[in-house]
Amino acid sequence: MRPITNTIDPASALFATNAAAYRSDLDRLREAMQFAIDGGNHPSRAGRQRSIDRHHGRGKVMTRDRIDMVIDEGSPFLELSTLAGYGQADDEFPGAGIVTGIGIVHGVPWMFIANDATVKGGSLFPAGIKKHVRAQDIARENDLGCIYLVDSGGAFLPMQDEVFPDQDHFGGTFYRQAQMSAAGLPQLSVVLGGCTAGGAYVPALSDEVIMVEGIGRIFLGGPPIVKAALGEVVDPDDLGGAALHTRESGVSDYMVQTEAEAYGLLREICANTNRRSIADRQDWYDWIEPEAPAHPAEEILGIINDDTRIPYDARQIIARLVDGSRFSEFKPEWGNSIVVGFTRIWGHLVGVIANNGIIFSEDALKATHFIELCNQRSVPLLFLQNTTGYMVGRDSEIGGIAKNGAKMVTAVANARVPKFTVLIGGSYGAGNYGMCGRGFDPRFLFAWPNSRIATMAADTAETVLTDIRLGGMRGAETTNEEIAEIRSSIRAQYEEQSDPYYATSRLWDDGLISPLDTRDALGLCLSLAARQDAPVAGDRIVYRM
Ligand code: COA
Repeated sequence: MRPITNTIDPASALFATNAAAYRSDLDRLREAMQFAIDGGNHPSRAGRQRSIDRHHGRGKVMTRDRIDMVIDEGSPFLELSTLAGYGQADDEFPGAGIVTGIGIVHGVPWMFIANDATVKGGSLFPAGIKKHVRAQDIARENDLGCIYLVDSGGAFLPMQDEVFPDQDHFGGTFYRQAQMSAAGLPQLSVVLGGCTAGGAYVPALSDEVIMVEGIGRIFLGGPPIVKAALGEVVDPDDLGGAALHTRESGVSDYMVQTEAEAYGLLREICANTNRRSIADRQDWYDWIEPEAPAHPAEEILGIINDDTRIPYDARQIIARLVDGSRFSEFKPEWGNSIVVGFTRIWGHLVGVIANNGIIFSEDALKATHFIELCNQRSVPLLFLQNTTGYMVGRDSEIGGIAKNGAKMVTAVANARVPKFTVLIGGSYGAGNYGMCGRGFDPRFLFAWPNSRIATMAADTAETVLTDIRLGGMRGAETTNEEIAEIRSSIRAQYEEQSDPYYATSRLWDDGLISPLDTRDALGLCLSLAARQDAPVAGDRIVYRM
């Protein structure tokens, strides 16, 4: 692999302008993250503090601190979709009321799914359910056992039609739990609060359950429901406390007095699950000692243009993410708006496909050829998306852009190697699909805070949709003011909906991350793939495109 030639001058005025703009993007990201991390279900600061104080008043630990008490000291925790639900439902669900992510226990990676009881009693609204389901799907695909830190009132009842009945709603979480357990992926629960109805089935479906006396309760219907249905007035601990479930019903296997004791016991249980460690690479996988990039990731902030219409060279981004900033570029003289080649991240061999703008026919064919090479050689694929989509126009159509783009899409869809995607800029139109967007099942999809995702950019949408609307109003008189109003409302809609916070709130990605954290996040994701068995055998044909 050869070093990538550096073309960036950190002393230039453009670099300084870009970096300053990106730093304010990162400030916004930190602020939004803090809002989610603080918890509490009321939009007002004082209201939020009340639910947090009540949680502490019961002697309960905050959700992320709970996870910290379980994972190995000093080990990383890759939190997923921290901003799920952001800006939705009057912001009453910071973090969608649930924390998910991958943490290490005795060297083994686990998926953590932990309710935040300071947010609507840990009940789940639509983004919360989606986050729960997504975490389970990631666990299954990456061969991870699940640790549930349960403190949940189940479905958020005012929105029951959006969280209860459909395929990937609450029932889907139980289905996944049962299936994963049967597939040999341990499902472990610690009960840390009033777990009612849906919240009760999570421990009930687990392989091993710990309950903390005094705070942990499991019941299909809580005291208010029992009173309404049977007229019985019953104390919560008599109805579903730790002693009842550990000594009488057998719903729980262990009873402890404190959260600290629970996490010590949980670690002991994890030690007996006979799982592969994070460093246990399987024999299909090529790995060497990692090396830091030769150029600092910090410089990415100055490379990405503040004006999103001005492109930047993807090679310069690659140079700041990969080992030794070295890259074996494939077909460097052909198909200039896509950059493909082999490199290493934290020692893992990986094939990178990155955009340098619009995708033309030859770019699509080059990417297809490269995907086939990675597939043939069992090399994981990393897509770095920054594209306005496939080229349009008569010349392009004559050149067969539709079929060439389809070849790329087909190759991505059928690649048997692990795929990872980062949105480092624009993700527009079918470019999103060809570059392994959410619909193409990358194992993880992260987005940078400068990214934009939509069918087309707001500028283009403004023109296209205004023309369509005016065409539909044939014959009707339209004043210039009305046309201007149509234009600006379309623009506003596209700007709002292509914003990365809008996207991450709806779990179109697995989280907004800073360019500075991206190499580490990818390193962990690649380690997970490396400890699994070889990708399923399949077609290894390489067609010259
Ligand atoms: N749906 C909607 N809101 C819920 C909820 C649910 N399932 N569970 C809790 N909440 C809300 C409460 O209304 C309250 O909101 P507020 O702060 O805006 O007033 C907040 O969460 C905290 O609930 P609270 O009952 O005060 O907290 P708690 O810690 O004393 O009790 C539970 C927590 C979960 C044990 C209790 O709220 C409960 O039993 N909820 C009903 C659970 C249920 O019947 N679920 C059926 C789901 S299928």
